[in-house]
Amino acid sequence: MFETLAEQPADALLALIGLFRDDPRQGKLDLGVGVYRDETGATPIMAAVKEAERILLETRTSKSYLGPEGDLAYVDLLKPIAFGADPGPRLTGVQTPGGTGALRLGAELIAMAKPGARVLVGTPTWPNHAPIIKATGLTLVAHPFFDVATQTLDFAALTAAIAASAPGDVVLLHGCCHNPAGADLCDAQWDDLARLLAERGVTPFVDLAYQGLGRGLDADAYGTRRLMTTLPEVLVAYSCDKNFGLYRERVGALYALAADEASAAAVKSNMAALARVNWSMPPDHGAAIVRTVLESAELTAIWRDELDRMGARVRAVRAALADAEPKLAWIADQQGMFSTLPLARSQIERLRLDHGVYMAGSGRINLAGLRVGDVPAFVEALAAVGFPG
Ligand code: LMR
Repeated sequence: MFETLAEQPADALLALIGLFRDDPRQGKLDLGVGVYRDETGATPIMAAVKEAERILLETRTSKSYLGPEGDLAYVDLLKPIAFGADPGPRLTGVQTPGGTGALRLGAELIAMAKPGARVLVGTPTWPNHAPIIKATGLTLVAHPFFDVATQTLDFAALTAAIAASAPGDVVLLHGCCHNPAGADLCDAQWDDLARLLAERGVTPFVDLAYQGLGRGLDADAYGTRRLMTTLPEVLVAYSCDKNFGLYRERVGALYALAADEASAAAVKSNMAALARVNWSMPPDHGAAIVRTVLESAELTAIWRDELDRMGARVRAVRAALADAEPKLAWIADQQGMFSTLPLARSQIERLRLDHGVYMAGSGRINLAGLRVGDVPAFVEALAAVGFPG
């Protein structure tokens, strides 16, 4: 039967990991996949995580199954971090394998509630969003969100798309640190958006994968929290892969705010049923680490401090880049690890082949891949391919 299968291209972003690894050049720069790097270029295990792992190693007595919802203490402990004040029994959630697992489960939940539902998606967006939406039989409706050439966020296009939507539609939103544009709504825009969504009966599905890596834990959650206090129903795909540096452990959660407690119970049972047919039960180790950190006031303080310093480092790189090349001044105003440079394909290829600078084919760069000391060489490489012109 396999002869019917056409070969699929490798995921372009993930393929960069191998290309970079195999490049022998000194001074090569990996601005590709979205992992945090420190000022030495390493992606370290966070101190709070290491300590939690030590505690787990010493205290765990069983690896027996937990069930399709995963570690519910982890799911509960994350709520005040993500949502601030506890919205109470209308909020439910389950553990998922990473933010991608949460997005997939959320999309399947939407499809279960409303097969083929329309999901409004601003472009550009993370390359995995559209395939996940389509794979679950939902209808993707794209609208412009960010113009790379002028580096401007098109709030009018977002509100126009919502104004043209029908009750029961869904809108996918980046909670913070927009991937790939680094362009976030300001607080006043979130307020307007929440009101508009309530008026139109449109449900937000928030991808919150970088909380704490932009303006800080609370500021990065402003929009998500505003939606939660304004709307009857909200879905949130949460990832701890970045803000706990747990990438390969795959640590996420899907939360749903439902109209009432009974509806929340029904939602949770559907999440559990969908998890069961996908992965049966999520992998435990990463969520157990996050739970162990959040159960300890001391470890939580260490984690928050380390995360703050990670965010500050990315902001310092942004500032250094804006200083070194005034035509890129906008980069200092953007949030999180990513920005997208308006580069032609040929320039991106020359940067990789001639200068050892690796970035996504869209022109997205991971600022955390740069040390402040790399900035002059990076700006020189950009100039050598004629950017910013
Ligand atoms: C990224 O956008 O680089 C990360 O979210 C990694 C991924 O899975 O694509």
